[in-house]
Amino acid sequence: AITRTPLIAGNWKMNLDHLQAIAFVQKLAWSLSDAKHDFGAVEVAVFPPFTDLRSVQTLVSADKLPLAFGAQDVSAHDSGAYTGEISGAFLAQLECSYVVIGHSERRTLHGETDEQVGAKVSAALKHNLVPIICVGETAEDLEEHGPSAVPVAQLRGALIGVASAADIVVAYEPVWAIGSGQAATPEQAEQVAAALRGVLAETLGEDVAAKTRILYGGSVKAANIAGFMREPNVDGALVGGASLDLDEFASIVRYQK
Ligand code: G3P
Repeated sequence: AITRTPLIAGNWKMNLDHLQAIAFVQKLAWSLSDAKHDFGAVEVAVFPPFTDLRSVQTLVSADKLPLAFGAQDVSAHDSGAYTGEISGAFLAQLECSYVVIGHSERRTLHGETDEQVGAKVSAALKHNLVPIICVGETAEDLEEHGPSAVPVAQLRGALIGVASAADIVVAYEPVWAIGSGQAATPEQAEQVAAALRGVLAETLGEDVAAKTRILYGGSVKAANIAGFMREPNVDGALVGGASLDLDEFASIVRYQK
């Protein structure tokens, strides 16, 4: 059977400027090395604002820190007259491994559609960035359509136009659980993650489905991470608020201990 390396990802959202980012990443690396963290067993990634990426890259490469990093969004375009956008080529050049795409805050605050999310996924893959495709239902969706319908439709939409993908990550983040302190139960997360893996099998094939990591996100903290990680289809977490608290995030990473 394929074993998937768990991924604990910290989405900083619009927090920590580039100076704060340097201090935070240094302390995080120190804290994890102190605990003899086995980076082969759990991959750790941070997602700072764009303006921090160069600083984080410099630090990670100079000190050979075993931390991955990526951006919180990417343009669907390669270059040109797109004021304010950041191309996948730029991110790849800064040694980003990942890019978060279709976060619920992008979908709600910036009206991103499944089609735009799909175009960004294609752009990421083109530049060898691993897209972390975010999907998730609102409380109203949940009431109206049940647990999996909206996340499944969003993932299908994001994968239109993706013929093959060596490496992608899917993050299931119920909108009602984001920043609310009201996390889904591990059983709820597992149910949707299993449905999402079904979509991956249908669209990209069984092999891709078996090796793709599916993360849970929404009020993850040190106290509830282990429950999610016990579920067979949940392969990690996308952490918002708790990723800004050094001790809390380090404890989440060390969920097994
Ligand atoms: O992308 C992660 C995020 O949306 C979850 O946020 O603060 O509920 O962990 P939070």
